Amino acid sequence: MASTANSKIEEVRNEADRLNSAPGTADQLMKSIALLLHEKMLKYNWVGFYMLEPGAIPPVLVLGHFCGAMTPHTRIPLHQGICGAAASSGKTVVVDDVQSDPRYLACSLETKSEIVVPVFVSGKVVGELDIDSHFPAAFGVQDRELVEYCALLVGRRLEKA
Ligand code: SME
Repeated sequence: MASTANSKIEEVRNEADRLNSAPGTADQLMKSIALLLHEKMLKYNWVGFYMLEPGAIPPVLVLGHFCGAMTPHTRIPLHQGICGAAASSGKTVVVDDVQSDPRYLACSLETKSEIVVPVFVSGKVVGELDIDSHFPAAFGVQDRELVEYCALLVGRRLEKA
């Protein structure tokens, strides 16, 4: 079972590399990566990017490309939510049980666990990749590596823009 999950992750990582090697903007890459993760990773039930609004004071995360149901949280200040925690700390946040995390901003009643990975450009957080799952503790070490890799590809593409 574990090796099946690992080979799936490897397949999706290779597909992300393929998307990244195709010409296109960072915006197109974010759209295609969100779609890829949502379609291929069965426990990734909502996949989306939040990007820091350029020049906003105080800083705010704005919903970008996403796959899944519409969320009420289209703008998130950095002191709110798991999204705000990841962006303000510059660290990946994995929450196995969202109901037990007081920071959690509810998007869907079905969501049980969440991962948020910052996107960096030249060492600075410019946004993040947020994934919700209907399954508790859906994001293990391999998932974290996959999502961090996807966020890295987007950051590199943004750097080139
Ligand atoms: N749950 C997030 C809010 C965004 S929705 O999940 C799409 C949070 O706690 O910041």
